[in-house]
Amino acid sequence: MKRLIIGLSGASGVIYGIRLLEMLRDIPDVETHLIMSRYARLNIEIETELSAKYVESLADEVHSHSNQAASISSGSFKTDGMIIAPCSIKTLSAIAHSSAESLMSRAADVVLKESRRLVLMPREVPLHTGHCKLLYEVSMLGALIAPPMPAFYNHPKTIDDIVNHSVGRVLDLFDIEYSGVKRWHGTSSSSQSVDREKAPEVLVADPDQATS
Ligand SMILES: Cc1cc2nc3c(=O)[nH]c(=O)nc-3n(C[C@H](O)[C@H](O)[C@H](O)COP(=O)(O)O)c2cc1C
Repeated sequence: MKRLIIGLSGASGVIYGIRLLEMLRDIPDVETHLIMSRYARLNIEIETELSAKYVESLADEVHSHSNQAASISSGSFKTDGMIIAPCSIKTLSAIAHSSAESLMSRAADVVLKESRRLVLMPREVPLHTGHCKLLYEVSMLGALIAPPMPAFYNHPKTIDDIVNHSVGRVLDLFDIEYSGVKRWHGTSSSSQSVDREKAPEVLVADPDQATS
């Protein structure tokens, strides 16, 4: 049995958190605790055809963003960790400074102090030095930073493919297997002898040949 806290903050990309919840709902023996910030709720309306009510229905337990007395506000309530997807710069900053001004940052701080796994999917572009410093600080505190940067070795065809791959790779960090991740298994021998018939755009071993 695993128990995971899923946080959706107000950065663009609420679909990442929603997809996580959808995946976890279909995996037996995983209990999910959901926190959504006010702007995450707004972004669900702006960015998707879904409702906050639907997103809440995916979780085993839903906590109010302002309820500092929730179970997950205490380290004595055991969890396997927390994923914040997407993670806004504001929430990143709150976590870096242990400000615990909301349940989201309090729960993340508890996960860190208990040496449990905290995975952040920050979304902002471009990043200034202050953002980079915050990422460095949370990394030093033990958080894992998994920005939703798409991979292309798996040849995504749809936005769903891109989202599923990023989210599936985050679940890898909790040893939760999601069958939708297309894994890289290497080339047949070495990167110097890629089978160009089978995977013409996978790797360009010799950059000089790329233009030929
Ligand atoms: C449509 C929309 C997109 C946004 N995208 C981002 C984003 O990608 N990254 C970010 O840090 N903030 C973004 N914001 C701003 C945050 O929502 C805002 O800073 C908010 O106060 C974050 O609070 P929260 O972390 O408690 O959700 C966006 C806001 C809106 C309305």
